[in-house]
Amino acid sequence: MNKLVYHDDVVRQFALATIFWGVIGMLVGVILAAQLAWPALNFDVPWLTFSRLRPLHTNAVIFAFGGCALFATSYYIVQRTCHAPLFAPKLASFTFWGWQLVIVLAAITLPLGLTQSKEYAELIWPIDVLITIIWVAYGVVFFGTIVKRKMAHIYVANWFYASFIITVAVLHVVNSLAIPVSWTESYPVFSGSVDAMTQWWYGHNAVGFFLTAAFLGMMYYFVPKQANRPVYSYRLSVVHFWALISIYMWAGPHHLHYTALPDWAQSLGMVFSLILLAPSWGGMINGIMTLSGAWHKLRTDPILRFLIVSLSFYGMSTFEGPMMSIKTVNSLSHYTDWTIGHVHSGALGWVAMISIGAHYHLIPKLFGREGMYSQSLISLHFWMATIGIVLYIASMWIAGVMQGLMWRATNNDGTLTYSFVESLEMTYPFYLIRFLGGALFLLGMLVMAYNVFKTIKGAAPEQVELTAQEAV
Ligand code: HEM
Ligand code: HEM
Repeated sequence: MNKLVYHDDVVRQFALATIFWGVIGMLVGVILAAQLAWPALNFDVPWLTFSRLRPLHTNAVIFAFGGCALFATSYYIVQRTCHAPLFAPKLASFTFWGWQLVIVLAAITLPLGLTQSKEYAELIWPIDVLITIIWVAYGVVFFGTIVKRKMAHIYVANWFYASFIITVAVLHVVNSLAIPVSWTESYPVFSGSVDAMTQWWYGHNAVGFFLTAAFLGMMYYFVPKQANRPVYSYRLSVVHFWALISIYMWAGPHHLHYTALPDWAQSLGMVFSLILLAPSWGGMINGIMTLSGAWHKLRTDPILRFLIVSLSFYGMSTFEGPMMSIKTVNSLSHYTDWTIGHVHSGALGWVAMISIGAHYHLIPKLFGREGMYSQSLISLHFWMATIGIVLYIASMWIAGVMQGLMWRATNNDGTLTYSFVESLEMTYPFYLIRFLGGALFLLGMLVMAYNVFKTIKGAAPEQVELTAQEAV
């Protein structure tokens, strides 16, 4: 019988890149958090200003950290679930080096102030073209492997990754349509509120497909594997997949409440956002319930803790999002740090935690080790990450609601009760708490990097002493 050999070189490269870019992207996040608490920290150097480092942070954490995690896990999962090695492994290798080139170019151009000024789509047009080429190559490798599969069935994780690859291609190409006027400048083909709507159709679906659907694909493979249990309900996974991808598309206008966008479009976005709660929770419940009958494993398995806590944050942020999309609630939350709290409960709580859990599962397998070098360091990382997130999002929630209430408070004669600067002064203690939470999360990533380094070097794993109770 022929032995199946998977192409894991590219998976290993992307997995290590995930951890590297995670540390860099979050370091920039911590610098930003520090700058908001102590504005002098930009040292009057243009490329260190908040406005230039902020897109560097969002691009680094979403596309470098999150992107590499998705490339690594999709290449790993599609081979295992299709019982087929990667189609066109050289092309897969091209996606790795190409993606790293995009990241390096982003890290050079953004601090230089070269940008298209579209949130999460800032990169200048030549880099956009490069991204398109790499993405097509990614699609060829992924779908080629699906076509070559030895199993009749296509496992649900692949459906989520497939929807992510197709949708991101469409979003990226349409939102980036522009007329170049030089190597670094271009004008978008859209204008006015059509431009705004296209941008937030892109922005919201970047959240829906890059930061959600694809990570659900990751969840559907690694949670059952780590828990050693079948998915709770396969039927639910298919139903919520179709519901999720068809509803997400329509929810973008909730980013444009009370703007020049026609009122009916804003209300449409709000209604679809409210409906979105159902398929989102379908995924969360399916993931968490996969642990039925194996809850005790949470006591001893820190990797499973990462995975399950990430699902709880997914549930929290997808409850909060629909609430914030209600126009009257949005009139309070918009422009405040509440949005930043919501973003990071999704981004750190869901995206980062599930990626970290998946990589702790993956790294020993990729490097032929029995397990990670140290379980106690994983446990330490788990607590640092969890406490870090709680400090981050709780401080931003309080700051956000406080800002919203202060900005709308009026005196009897109709004048504003507070000046903007007063609200800013009140926010400083919360910026300090967010900085501490972010720094703790970053330190946790460094603990992970050390643990991964020791695992790869093949140092003997620590001896875990079981208590008498755990041993039975
Ligand atoms: C049912 C799911 C969700 C809904 C309905 C939703 C809804 C919303 C709403 C209403 C806003 C505020 C828009 C504003 O006032 O400007 C927002 C912002 C945001 N959300 Fe969500 N959210 C959901 C889930 C998530 C998740 C899981 C993540 C991350 C993984 C996420 C990431 C973001 C980001 C990055 C922004 C900020 C966009 C910006 O202004 O730059 N959301 N979301
Ligand atoms: C150590 C961890 C992190 C820290 C300290 C941090 C800090 C920050 C700060 C200070 C901002 C600017 C907020 C503002 O403009 O007022 C920000 C924005 C943002 N961060 Fe992070 N971040 C971290 C991790 C992440 C991760 C892992 C992701 C995504 C996977 C992420 C996604 C974002 C996004 C999308 C925004 C823009 C939000 C918006 O426009 O509404 N962050 N972050």
